[in-house]
Amino acid sequence: MNQTNTSRRVAIVTGGIGGLGTEICRHLARAGRQVVALDLAARSERVAAFHDELAEFGDAIGFAPLDVSNFDSCQQAIAQIENRYGSVDIVVNAAGITRDASLRKMTPQQWHELMQVNLDGVFNICRNVVDGMSARGFGRIVNISSVNGQTGQFGQTNYSAAKAGVHGFSMALARETARKGITVNTVSPGYCDTPMVAAVPDDIRAQIIAGIPVGRLGAPADIARAVAFLTADDAGYITGANLPVNGGYFMSF
Ligand code: CAA
Repeated sequence: MNQTNTSRRVAIVTGGIGGLGTEICRHLARAGRQVVALDLAARSERVAAFHDELAEFGDAIGFAPLDVSNFDSCQQAIAQIENRYGSVDIVVNAAGITRDASLRKMTPQQWHELMQVNLDGVFNICRNVVDGMSARGFGRIVNISSVNGQTGQFGQTNYSAAKAGVHGFSMALARETARKGITVNTVSPGYCDTPMVAAVPDDIRAQIIAGIPVGRLGAPADIARAVAFLTADDAGYITGANLPVNGGYFMSF
């Protein structure tokens, strides 16, 4: 591995104990990063399972409880992480939820809950790291979008809007920070083997899988390796980009 990729920079991963987040933590730790997973602590068995699964990494992967939809909590969590581990140089915003319903059935609560996590959460984290990254002249931000932000999906006006918004946000922030050594990109996963996709009704999921040219759901590792690539120290010339990782489900350029 390139020497410049192995520095012990501090990386935070929101949704860090989730379907994609756990694997992203693993890949960043393997790249030599000090990782802190940020996620809801409400279900203690979920946190315990995360620690068990990643026990081999020891202190190289930590956990801190956080609700990304709360700006003040994000500010406090990042301050605490910086006190304990040092400056946050790498951010992966992977916290995301679904609240699927066709628009004619969608409640304002389903709309707002989703926006608060999937879109406000990205603002709440980025707003609290970007000054430090700018001052130090280095930063890598990867926001997890979705193929459904690119194409729209039946039953996901909220999710598709938020995920398309995540890429708009990323392009704008990429322009604002390009001269400061910070890159901001999105990764757009297709349908992956995660609890979120497992919750899609069986018949609909089977139809979706039948339409994936590669012929299978994505593995979390397929996404995590794209994140590791974009957060490498020597990935400084890729910014404002969207990297689709969808098994050919949606092809564009
Ligand atoms: N395209 C066109 N029409 C569709 C349709 C589709 N994809 N799906 C349903 N319909 C039609 C039905 O045939 C039905 O028609 P009739 O009224 O003529 O009988 C009508 O729409 C049903 O509409 P409803 O509003 O009543 O829909 P519903 O309540 O039965 O189900 C839903 C809506 C819960 C959203 C369901 O369609 C669903 O779960 N869809 C899957 C959504 C999905 O893919 N989510 C992805 C989650 S994973 C993820 O998001 C990760 C990622 O990034 C990829």
